[in-house]
Amino acid sequence: MKHHINFTVNGDDYSLAVDPWRTLNELLREDLNLTGTKLGCGTGDCGACTVMVDGRTVSSCLTLAVSINGKSVTTVEGLAPSGEELHPIQEAFIKTGAIQCGFCTAGMELSALHLLNNNPEPTEKEIRSGLSGNLCRCTGYNQIVEAISVAAEQIRDSEPEKEER
Ligand code: FES
Ligand code: FES
Repeated sequence: MKHHINFTVNGDDYSLAVDPWRTLNELLREDLNLTGTKLGCGTGDCGACTVMVDGRTVSSCLTLAVSINGKSVTTVEGLAPSGEELHPIQEAFIKTGAIQCGFCTAGMELSALHLLNNNPEPTEKEIRSGLSGNLCRCTGYNQIVEAISVAAEQIRDSEPEKEER
């Protein structure tokens, strides 16, 4: 029997009936056509499916769709809602060459967003720790770490009034 759930994704409200076994990853990719979120291992190991739910990162492959009832989901599409102006994290990934095949990128960027929301000035060690749930088979990680450091600096520079408080 399907369950009726209400939730938001990237600020948009949804009200859907979903099967109880359906994952959040399936809901996003197949029902909402938000295919920026990837499906890699399907077992919680690679981080390619990472999204934020109520401000916390989760593996969408291991999260049941029914569990997001009443919650707010952020996917990579929410980083650049206009589709034109990219988020500073995305700009930094491009600038530093942190994207090769791109399969890990959405998950990496959501983990980076969570990290920078909670720690605007992370050390390299803290960045590496923040990415510990995300695997990349292409870049060797150094460019990704650099990208997040560059993004952190840019975000801090663009919000000087916060630093003064
Ligand atoms: S696809 Fe979810 S952690 Fe790999
Ligand atoms: S860029 Fe290919 S897996 Fe990370």
